[in-house]
Amino acid sequence: ENFFSSKLSLKGVRALVTAGPTYEAIDPVRYIGNRSTGTMGIALAEELAARGADVYLVVGPSDVNIPCNIKTKKITTAREMYEASLKYISNTDIIIMAAAVSDYTPEKISKEKIKKESDQLSLTLTKTKDILSTAGKLKTEHQTLVGFALETTNERDNALQKLTKKNADLIVLNSLNDEGAGFGKGTNKIIIFDKKGNEYKFDKKPKKEVAKDIINTIIHYRNV
Ligand code: CTP
Ligand code: CA
Repeated sequence: ENFFSSKLSLKGVRALVTAGPTYEAIDPVRYIGNRSTGTMGIALAEELAARGADVYLVVGPSDVNIPCNIKTKKITTAREMYEASLKYISNTDIIIMAAAVSDYTPEKISKEKIKKESDQLSLTLTKTKDILSTAGKLKTEHQTLVGFALETTNERDNALQKLTKKNADLIVLNSLNDEGAGFGKGTNKIIIFDKKGNEYKFDKKPKKEVAKDIINTIIHYRNV
């Protein structure tokens, strides 16, 4: 279903992409993380750059190679990702939040390594700031805001709710219910929903190809 041309230019367009996981420290040696590898977000940054866009990438701990034509800020925590992203938000035309940001962070980081003294251990976690929602609140007319939705149940409804609630223009539903797709896998199976009520369904394919589909859909959205 590659129904858009893949050569549509983004010259003169500035883009911000968030990618990868975040790590929230518990103590000097431990953290809360997630299985995101950063592959999808970095592929999006590459595809934007290939179309001529000026790309800023804010990326969490990831081993994926990042080409040098992409201005990159490496961060570790959700808080750092929020702060780094906020610096670029007002100066960009396309914002894609592909990062798997931790929703919660330990209320306090233990200065010393936590010892295994008791049989049970409870950590108090507090909610992190939502970067996509913040971008949605600050959004101006010329900006296109794109979020991801990672769901295991009620995929469609949850994705559409996120689109509205976070004031995004497009939301990419990443289906985890398909074997071989998602975190740590080479492929993704996506459906893109836009604010105008359109829905674009794609086959499972390598993340570099998925990135092309997403960028084409964004360009199409901006042009009509
Ligand atoms: N996101 C963000 N900042 C956060 C949490 C999420 O910018 N603190 C962004 C993600 O990058 C993604 C979108 O919000 O583009 C949706 O993330 P997701 O985890 O699917 O949804 P949440 O709103 O966090 O809700 P939940 O995890 O409960 O499904
Ligand atoms: Ca979340």
